Amino acid sequence: MTSFILGIDTSCDETSVAILAEDLVASNIISSQIKMHAAYGGVVPELASRAHVENLPIVVGQALAKANCGFKDLTGIAVTTSPGLIGCLLVGLSYAKALAYSLKIPITCVHHLKGHLFSPFIGAPPSYPFLGLVVSGGHTALYRVLGFNQIDCLGQTVDDAAGEAYDKTAKLLGLGYPGGPILDQFAQSGNEKAHSFTRARVKKGRYYFSFSGLKTAVSLVVKKWGLEKSGDREEFIKNLAASFQAEVVGTLVEKVHWAREEYGIKTIAVSGGVACNSRLRKELGALGAIIPPPMMCTDNGAMIAYVGEKQLQQGKFSGLDSNAHSSAPMW
Ligand code: KG4
Ligand code: ZN
Repeated sequence: MTSFILGIDTSCDETSVAILAEDLVASNIISSQIKMHAAYGGVVPELASRAHVENLPIVVGQALAKANCGFKDLTGIAVTTSPGLIGCLLVGLSYAKALAYSLKIPITCVHHLKGHLFSPFIGAPPSYPFLGLVVSGGHTALYRVLGFNQIDCLGQTVDDAAGEAYDKTAKLLGLGYPGGPILDQFAQSGNEKAHSFTRARVKKGRYYFSFSGLKTAVSLVVKKWGLEKSGDREEFIKNLAASFQAEVVGTLVEKVHWAREEYGIKTIAVSGGVACNSRLRKELGALGAIIPPPMMCTDNGAMIAYVGEKQLQQGKFSGLDSNAHSSAPMW
């Protein structure tokens, strides 16, 4: 019997639902709340939860229609239960539980980062070992993956995530939310040599990341420019965006290089919203990295359905008493 897994992700500001028929993505619908949160310069958790309550049943309906199937065809449900905004996670989990109970089908709780980590392999199974770089708005981590359940976190951010650094920098420059795509665009025509930033070295280990010092350095550059009021504002933003982007991407790529050499692993998989970044895609793409199309880099239900399908095959069923957690280890 063909498995039809419904994947739900409501961890942050996107209501995402997908249907995975065996290993094929039959539908992947993402309802973004970006416009609503942009007015506040970032995600407002309570507004996000309420929007998920309204949107989720609609998005599920759209995912079923696009996949040309009905509730009765579903064989399992995968839902993100950590990490994320707790109210948002609970909306997805409560919906998933009610549906699983009424349809008498199993449910499996999925870790959001595991979803990102395996998203480059939807439709083309991974060959182990691989190095997985997960770079999103909430997380930045480098993993050595030896198997589906053998995941070694080499290092992660000790402060801001890469996407967060983009978002905060764009906010500082008054450019809107989310900052990543906006700064990426400005950086295309800027001079990356205009500003130089000192690369953070994290005591915890060489695979750990830190972006809060860069954020402070950028704010000092902005302040100085404001005091001096020197030159064209657009030119200043383009150059600053290019220098900032060179530093963020340089940090990420440097650590991937080190891990490749230390562990002798050639396969690199990149995921998370920042994997949409043009410079990161170019530099890691040149190393042969597997990077999903942008729609599969940002939050989506397909990555949750994919990991959920594997978990269900392994008998990892979650009970109707399962809970959501704003942060939790991947295994
Ligand atoms: O994975 P994601 O959709 O949500 C989280 O799980 O956080 O990632 C969203 C993040 C935001 O911080 C956004 O600014 C960033 O991904 N992002 C980018 C680009 N597109 C999205 N960062 C840099 N360059 C981009 N082109
Ligand atoms: Zn994410």
